[in-house]
Amino acid sequence: MSNIEERVFSGIQPTGNLHLGNYLGAIKRFVSLQDDYNCIYCVVDLHAITVWQEPSELANNIREVTAAFIASGIDPQKHIVFNQSQVAEHAELAWIFNCVARMGWLSRMTQFKEKAGKDREKASVGLFAYPALMAADILTYRATHVPVGEDQKQHLELTRDIAQKFNNDFSDRISSLGLGEPMMVGDEKVQGYFPLTEPLIGGPAARVMSLRDGSKKMSKSDPSDLSRIVMTDDADAISKKIRKAKTDADGLPSEVEGLKNRPEADNLVGIYAALNDMDKASVLKEFGGAQFGTFKPALADLAVAKIDPIASEMRRLQADPAEIDSLLVKGADRAREIANRTLADVKEIVGFVGPRR
Ligand code: TRP
Repeated sequence: MSNIEERVFSGIQPTGNLHLGNYLGAIKRFVSLQDDYNCIYCVVDLHAITVWQEPSELANNIREVTAAFIASGIDPQKHIVFNQSQVAEHAELAWIFNCVARMGWLSRMTQFKEKAGKDREKASVGLFAYPALMAADILTYRATHVPVGEDQKQHLELTRDIAQKFNNDFSDRISSLGLGEPMMVGDEKVQGYFPLTEPLIGGPAARVMSLRDGSKKMSKSDPSDLSRIVMTDDADAISKKIRKAKTDADGLPSEVEGLKNRPEADNLVGIYAALNDMDKASVLKEFGGAQFGTFKPALADLAVAKIDPIASEMRRLQADPAEIDSLLVKGADRAREIANRTLADVKEIVGFVGPRR
């Protein structure tokens, strides 16, 4: 595997309560990338256990994310869908990356600081090493593009730092083994094995905010159920949550600039835009001047029309766990074929001894 081809990789943690933010910010974009790239979509269960997961719930959460992928329109035949723990190469490469990444790099990760909270001594070692595993997920497939939310940008930068240091440290070995391809590192040309992966960030609802507080991200752990629409909500629940969404007293502006400093209005317009594949300006062309009493019912109808079919397809799929499990096994087998080759190369580059090729 010498030449680096364009490829998309992304992952979602199976931690339960899959919500509209996960769908609009991630899964819906995964679906649209299928036409332009070879895509690998992974349920990152190894990442999930960096904080405690109830074993009796974890398996169903893995199946839930898988069902959401499929119900949303990801094609598991054309592309690859699997769960991380079935492909041991992720953990293997992560170990090697643990030895490439520096303590200082990982100590600067804001997600670790947030998740570990005040009592850092009590955080798992896995939570600290999390970004090296994420780099391994991506680089096991030498993926060139990764659709992620704004909050993962720093982890993508770290992924590039790891790739670059690996390419640099082992440049001579990579070229004498005839692997990789020439790349620029700064203004030096080196023989690099791993690509410098680009994040794909954006879209009208790259960040879906809480329905109760437009300054906070929609989150699975918000104590208020009204703050999020979960993928298992029925039509009544979706309508009710949108009706009760926090807003200000003004009507909708007719220009996007008018949404500045109005986080709740901005969020609802962004959700409408993302659900309907349009931009915020077009939404405001239609609804500029309208009161929320008009806009909210329109948004509720749209959300029900878009989410309900996915939710019922998810329920149908989840009713047959054996079918989902077998789909994941098949996906993992295909992922492993690629992962195997990368790890064979990497082990040789590092200098480990193994079967001759
Ligand atoms: N850290 C990502 C998140 O919490 C999940 C993730 C793990 C991921 N590995 C990845 C995303 C690789 C993209 C690529 O959202």
